[in-house]
Amino acid sequence: MQEKIDQVVAVLRQAVNDFAPVCFASSLGAEDMVLTDLIARHGLDIELFSLDTGRLPQETYELMQAVSERYTTPLKVYFPDKALVEGYVAQNGVNGFYGSVESRKACCFVRKVEPLRRALSGKRAWVTGLRRDQAVTRGSLEVSSFDADFGLQKFNPLLEWSHKDVWAYIRHNDVPYNKLHDQFYPSLGCAPCTRSVTPGEDIRAGRWWWENPDSKECGLHVSAKIAHGAGVSAS
Ligand code: ADX
Ligand code: SF4
Repeated sequence: MQEKIDQVVAVLRQAVNDFAPVCFASSLGAEDMVLTDLIARHGLDIELFSLDTGRLPQETYELMQAVSERYTTPLKVYFPDKALVEGYVAQNGVNGFYGSVESRKACCFVRKVEPLRRALSGKRAWVTGLRRDQAVTRGSLEVSSFDADFGLQKFNPLLEWSHKDVWAYIRHNDVPYNKLHDQFYPSLGCAPCTRSVTPGEDIRAGRWWWENPDSKECGLHVSAKIAHGAGVSAS
């Protein structure tokens, strides 16, 4: 385990040395809590931020509060552009994302991708908590690669970690985590788009559960062209 941790810290240090300024996108999921703890513990010069979609579960807000109390590294929160949200709701309805994959991706664009662009602007690299075995869509990721969608280097230091590794770190270091993980929510996103899973089900089965596994990305980690779906207007 220590070797795996050392490797992650080495990747984070490499990011800071070669690509400053660096930021870390935290959804406050279990993987992201491991990275938050490591960044804080080693005093790495990496800005932490989270995208508050406005539709997160209460437990995620509780964790956000706990993180700001536990760690001195500030967690910057980005909100969606209000005109874009108003345009989306006017055209699609407040829960329009259940209607089609296009409408769902349009909501993710407004609530996540556009704020992410703002969060990444001026940065030379970003760090994420992606793991390879989370989804079919994540099989070919690399630990460090150029992210052509957002125009900067992208680091996935936990890429080869297993779900078990993540939880061993959290337990061993008493890292705060989202209480919904104890209620069979292994992967968490917005409240209306996440449900609990039953034993044996895939880790991300509860995310956008009404869609096929190959469409289950929100635009943070695939081409923005795919994410920029119908029904978004900036007016
Ligand atoms: S998602 O694309 O399906 O939502 P997932 O929840 O697996 O992604 O998270 C993968 C990584 O994307 C996280 O480890 C984190 O780096 C980033 N991420 C996802 N959602 C957010 C968010 N709301 N704020 C900041 N980063 C996020
Ligand atoms: Fe909208 Fe659901 Fe995407 Fe959240 S996960 S931004 S509520 S479609």
